Amino acid sequence: MEMLGEARLGASRELVWEALNDPEVLRASIPGCETLEKAEDGSLTATVVSKVGPIKARFAGKVTLSNIVPPRSYTLTGEGSGGAAGFAKADIGVNLDALDANLTLLRYSVKANVGGKLAQLGSRMVDAAARKSADDFFELFGKQVTSRAADGSSAASPAGLDLAALGGVDQQETADAAATAYAPTSAAAPAPVAATPVVAAQTDASVQTSDAGREAVPPAVVAASPAKPASVSAASTAAAMDVLTAELIKVWISDQIAVVTLNRPGSRNAMTYAMWQAIPIIFGALARNPEVRAIILTGAGEDFCAGADIAEFEAVRGNAAQATEYEVAVDGCCDAIANVSKPTIAVLKGYCLGGGAHLAMSCDFRYASTNAVFGIPAARLSIIYGVKGTRKLLNLVGLPEAKKILFGAQRFTADRALQIGFVDHVATGGSVSARSWLDRLIGGGRKGEADVGDPMADARVFAQSLAGNAPLTICGAKALLNGMAMGTGALDLVHAEALITAAAASDDYREGRAAFGEKRAPQFKGR
Ligand code: COA
Repeated sequence: MEMLGEARLGASRELVWEALNDPEVLRASIPGCETLEKAEDGSLTATVVSKVGPIKARFAGKVTLSNIVPPRSYTLTGEGSGGAAGFAKADIGVNLDALDANLTLLRYSVKANVGGKLAQLGSRMVDAAARKSADDFFELFGKQVTSRAADGSSAASPAGLDLAALGGVDQQETADAAATAYAPTSAAAPAPVAATPVVAAQTDASVQTSDAGREAVPPAVVAASPAKPASVSAASTAAAMDVLTAELIKVWISDQIAVVTLNRPGSRNAMTYAMWQAIPIIFGALARNPEVRAIILTGAGEDFCAGADIAEFEAVRGNAAQATEYEVAVDGCCDAIANVSKPTIAVLKGYCLGGGAHLAMSCDFRYASTNAVFGIPAARLSIIYGVKGTRKLLNLVGLPEAKKILFGAQRFTADRALQIGFVDHVATGGSVSARSWLDRLIGGGRKGEADVGDPMADARVFAQSLAGNAPLTICGAKALLNGMAMGTGALDLVHAEALITAAAASDDYREGRAAFGEKRAPQFKGR
């Protein structure tokens, strides 16, 4: 039999990994485990009492770990004989994704075989027993991990990232320089990229990603000269620093994916002026970071974002001049997201309103939970939604739907959003097995709560698939498509040609051809 499951654990990936390799934790988590001891060859010997239908037996056998990729994955194989009852063998593949500093997505797959008397019980009974064992194992394991995390007794979780750790600040960048992370050095003479990155891969010990010990990735090609250089305003950089320090926006990087989280759940992640200003700096840094191949934008807590922070409008948007300045910051923010040289996915749940919708529309893709609620209530505030946001809406849903959304200021559901093309994907519920044990683990508070799906897990799988593709292709295709989509004159044809020529002269292009010839997966470097 085969089955799949997943669970989110409130602990760092390092801590979960440590627990997965701790014989004591495994012993306490394997249902019916009486002994689990480490043999000299590193394998584990175990005795487990197990009941399958009417047959109860004591199994003695071995537990071995293979395909070990710290701190991400391994295969745990348990095989044992229960004497007259027969034998059982299970291969359990475990994969860990760091969703945040202290949130880990554990996915598992189980393949189990039985023989002897056990096999005569029939597959339904054996399947049910195997599923229950897996449920029980991960329930017990989850409890141990979360209590260790609460104790803070083990593997320290990485600290938040600062701008230097994200990829640094380029003092000569424009708000949209994020778009040029893989750009050729000059449009007129498109040359293969510069040998020296503007901001090298950060090697400082203070830099925290979840992949401690991972082989260093050579610095990728990063921005050369942006088309229209201008200094980053000191105010924007200071805003970005303050926003990161106060954790109004959090950034987490693992497995080549950066997760940018709007973090004001008490205000439904409403965007302050400082947050609008900070995002171009943050995305610029991520564009330069060669470790990052895809970016996910999401919100903390129940919502994605309820738009601009109306509470501070009086102070920061109280008159016409301020309103103009404010809109420049909003456009700068959304442009930086839309034009960043790496693929972006918005993960949407709860409210996604007004400026929040503009943030979502600025991403390349939108993954929603079933409970997401969308709307642009500008007509309730006597605000005209900006030119760029309106164009993005038009591109996504077409004229009649765009008019309905803007004139009507009505909210709409995730299903409707999918129907009209506002979102690309609505997550369906998690696996029954994962939900059932997770509900038991979390306890009464969430019982009966509707299953709203897990768009983050789906988005990460999608992001991972994009991260393996040629960065220069994605960067170039994005620049061309975005330019074409934003209307006549928006596409800089000279720049587009330069991107195409630079990609044709790249190491990655050679690598793609070589990998095809050698029948292997290509290893792209973004240069
Ligand atoms: N700006 C500032 N604060 C906001 C906010 C926003 N856009 N949206 C929500 N909040 C705050 C609320 O003021 C409230 O704060 P409080 O607890 O200090 O009173 C908190 O977030 C929770 O929101 P609340 O209104 O109590 O929740 P609700 O479930 O009743 O309604 C919304 C949720 C999103 C429908 C409602 O808050 C709303 O309409 N917000 C404004 C949405 C909007 O117009 N956005 C476009 C701005 S351009």
